[in-house]
Amino acid sequence: MQFTNNDFQDIMLHRHSVRHFDSSVKIPRDELQQMVQEAITAPSSCNLQAWHFVVVDTPEGKDKLRSFFMKFNLPQLDSCSAMIMVFGDTDAFKKYRALWQKMYTEHQITKERLDEILQTFLPLYEHADKQFLTADALIDSSLAAMQLLLTIRAHGYEANPLGGYDAKKAAAALGLDPNRYVPALGIAVGKPDPNAHEITSERYAVQDVLEFQ
Ligand SMILES: Cc1cc2nc3c(=O)[nH]c(=O)nc-3n(C[C@H](O)[C@H](O)[C@H](O)COP(=O)(O)O)c2cc1C
Repeated sequence: MQFTNNDFQDIMLHRHSVRHFDSSVKIPRDELQQMVQEAITAPSSCNLQAWHFVVVDTPEGKDKLRSFFMKFNLPQLDSCSAMIMVFGDTDAFKKYRALWQKMYTEHQITKERLDEILQTFLPLYEHADKQFLTADALIDSSLAAMQLLLTIRAHGYEANPLGGYDAKKAAAALGLDPNRYVPALGIAVGKPDPNAHEITSERYAVQDVLEFQ
């Protein structure tokens, strides 16, 4: 697959939040899926891959989001081609055994390594409390979300990451188990509205946020 934009400098350094999109633009579902597939090459804690995506690209789906989105995010919701809701999956460890078993069956790891992994990492998660699992899932899913923001640009689209919604309602409104899935970020994606003016955000000086020790 060829990226529309394969210039990493441009993709990362010229990424800015776009909040007004050309609502006539439809992104094919296979391309949306492709972008998510690229995003999930992200690293994750113990390769748990504790992320889950709900791509909302229909008027009915957008209505569900409208029920818990904050008002100031409605312009993005109304005009975007798709709103990708990124969740952390606090039950991801339950699939973990099968993943490593597959790697063993495919001769990628030895039986000793398989046993070591299942005896070292799996109990960590099986005995973890909800707070640990939630923090872990939010880190994994946020890393994937950042990759998604970048690959969206590689596909020639723009995006706005957003967290301005009622997080307590997000999972249930989309038919997910709220005890399992924790919302990390919404990502509005589309082609920018050429008539809209978007602000360029400032950054603090690096010296203000960096120290060497
Ligand atoms: C966790 C998170 C939550 C955000 N929530 C919102 C939001 O609810 N609405 C919005 O318009 N932008 C939201 N943003 C976008 C930020 O305002 C934006 O990334 C920041 O101002 C820097 O601007 P830039 O993205 O153009 O570099 C959010 C970004 C992050 C990372």
